[in-house]
Amino acid sequence: MIEELPGVDGVDEGTRGTVVNHRMREVTELVAGADAGVGVWDDSLVGEVRTLFDSLAPDWTTTRDHPGRNAPVLDALDRGAVVGRTVLELGAGTCISARDLQGRFDRYVAADLSWGMLSHAVDGAPPLVCTDGSALPLADGVLDVLILQNMFLFAAEVDRCLAVDGCVVWVNSRGPETPIHLSCEAVVVSLESATGSEWRAVTSTVGEATWAVVRRAPRNAAR
Ligand SMILES: C[S@@+](CC[C@H](N)C(=O)[O-])C[C@H]1O[C@@H](n2cnc3c(N)ncnc32)[C@H](O)[C@@H]1O
Repeated sequence: MIEELPGVDGVDEGTRGTVVNHRMREVTELVAGADAGVGVWDDSLVGEVRTLFDSLAPDWTTTRDHPGRNAPVLDALDRGAVVGRTVLELGAGTCISARDLQGRFDRYVAADLSWGMLSHAVDGAPPLVCTDGSALPLADGVLDVLILQNMFLFAAEVDRCLAVDGCVVWVNSRGPETPIHLSCEAVVVSLESATGSEWRAVTSTVGEATWAVVRRAPRNAAR
């Protein structure tokens, strides 16, 4: 079940001139298992993705950050009714969100595959972990909130690490024009395919950005 909230105005990205990288869209759909229902992620993709983002790291913050950059994730937290103490932002890049997320949660950690991105993290970034989101160094069920902004969806690992009542915060800063983009429906389908159980979402827009907060449906919930 997907609940759609009214959109709100927002300040759009200043990177309109950049070309959507179709290869990253292709990889996004492979990882989410958009075709066959089973995600694909192997050493070759790890190398390709890490090399790409290492190369983009030096200019990432200056080309992506703008005053409204964090409005979508903040709106998702507020109108998506996100609560919790332990939060991982995975694929955090240079941690542009940190200025608005620090202090909101008791434990807020950022992780990324690319050491290049983390090594360019903004001032005030949370503790940083360089790791692959397909196999996180976390115990089962420890995360109250997993924030994925313009990041791939490793559905089985999300399910493993998320607390029973935890949630995924999914943000695409440029909506469908974001290279690493999945619709809210596709996020739900990927999680349901990986887990065999029902998930629910609330979704909205902030300017051109889209967000979804996705949770497991309560057991025995009516569809
Ligand atoms: C499009 S960037 C988004 C960065 C940041 N979330 C933002 O919106 O500014 C995608 C990020 O995900 C990271 N990433 C890609 N695959 C990953 C993986 N398997 N595990 C962890 N991070 C990954 C990349 O290195 C990159 O920093």
